[in-house]
This record gives sequence, C-alpha cells and structure tokens, in this order.
Amino acid sequence: MIYAANWKMNGDREFVHYILSQIKDNILPFLSYGSDIILCPPSIYLSEATDICKNTSIEIGAQDCSAHENGAFTGEVSAQMISDTGSEWVILGHSERRQYHAENNILLIDKLRNAHNAGLKVIFCVGETHQQYNEGTTRETLKDQLSVLDNARLANLNYMIAYEPVWAIGTGLAPELEEIDVIHQFIKKQLIDTAILPKKTRVLYGGSVSPNNAKDIKALASVDGVLVGGASLSSDKFKQICI
Ligand code: PGA
Repeated sequence: MIYAANWKMNGDREFVHYILSQIKDNILPFLSYGSDIILCPPSIYLSEATDICKNTSIEIGAQDCSAHENGAFTGEVSAQMISDTGSEWVILGHSERRQYHAENNILLIDKLRNAHNAGLKVIFCVGETHQQYNEGTTRETLKDQLSVLDNARLANLNYMIAYEPVWAIGTGLAPELEEIDVIHQFIKKQLIDTAILPKKTRVLYGGSVSPNNAKDIKALASVDGVLVGGASLSSDKFKQICI
C-alpha cells in the first residue's frame, strides 16, 4: 500500500522538521510490510526533507515541475532541479494545477517528458469535476486525461495514477466505495488497453481521505494506495490512515 502525502502550500520550516520526525519515529516503524510512504512538501523544502529522510525508506516528491528543461522561466522549478534535491517523485496533473494554472494535456506531455528525462517517478492525477460526475461523463473525462500518458510516448515511464474526483478534494465528500472500485478498475483496464504502458500500474485514491474512511477505501482490491491532502498535515491523522 502506498501512502502519499500532498502538503500543498502549507507549513513552514519548523512544520517540515516536526512532521517528518513524527512520521519517521511514530509511523514508519509500524507500517505493514510492503507499504511505502511518499511525502510531497512545497518545493522550497525538498532538500531539507530529503536530508531528514536520508537512510529511511521514506521517499520525497515535488508537487509539480516545469514543462521546460531550463531557461528564462522566472519562478519555475525544473524536473532536474527536483531530482538534484534527492527527490524521487513528482505529482503531475493535480486538479489544482489544472484549475488554477490552466494545465492541459499538451503541457502535461512536456512535463511528463521532463520528469522522465530527469529520472523522476510520476504520480499522475486524474479526476472528474462535479458537473462531469453529474452528467455521467466521468469515464470520458478520465480517458481523455489518461491519453496524455500514451501520447507522451515514454515506453518505460515510471509512474502511478492518483484518481482524485475534483469534487472530493478538500470537501469532506468522497464517492461511494463501490464507485471508487469501479473507477479504479476502469482506469487499470484503460491503461492495459494502451499498448505501450506497463500492465501493472498502481492506482491511488485521493480526495477527502481521512481516518474515518481510509480503512474501507484501503480494503478495496483495486486500490493500491491513497494520496492524502488535508489529513496529511496532522501526523496523528496520517498515522491513523497509514496504520
Ligand atoms: P484532500 O486533498 O485529501 O485534502 O481532499 C487530496 C489532494 O488534493 O491530493
């Protein structure tokens, strides 16, 4: 089981030190065999996070990377720079990036290529809006978002998918368990149907994962892990989710 934390634009240096020491001391030793923790702090703290987690199995990831390799792109952080910090992962296609930064499929292909070339592993986020959910176009939406992976033509891209319904992120609402299961199965089938991608892609669920619902979500056979936002900012809540 994968436990990925997306801290978004939260916390400060003190918080990063505190929560990492909590996770190292109070969660990691109790994690069940075969489980992994991936923590994604704001990029300014990546180096510190990789230093603190050195010699542990905790892996560190960024929340985004630039679509460009390098150059005059003020304020951007390249995939290579993320890799230089010792980070192994990058989240791409998060709905907040799609929504607030107008990220589209074309841009995401470039981001995927840069992440891949820099040796980063990718957590690729997909998910429908509430309107799409209500209109019954979830599958078409996901199919379109997943087409980026195929179109990027990266035969050995190291990645997993995070299925995060936009309407479930930060709202306290989550789909019914059966809906999560059906959609995860749909995503897996979709990836198998696209010939160039590895057959056993892990699919994480994200969107209002909490100590109250984590156990049931994790019990679904199609769920390989969770991507946790708000609840990962509390080491107590994150512990209840992981253990
Ligand atoms: P949430 O966020 O757990 O706060 O809903 C999940 C995410 O955006 O990755």
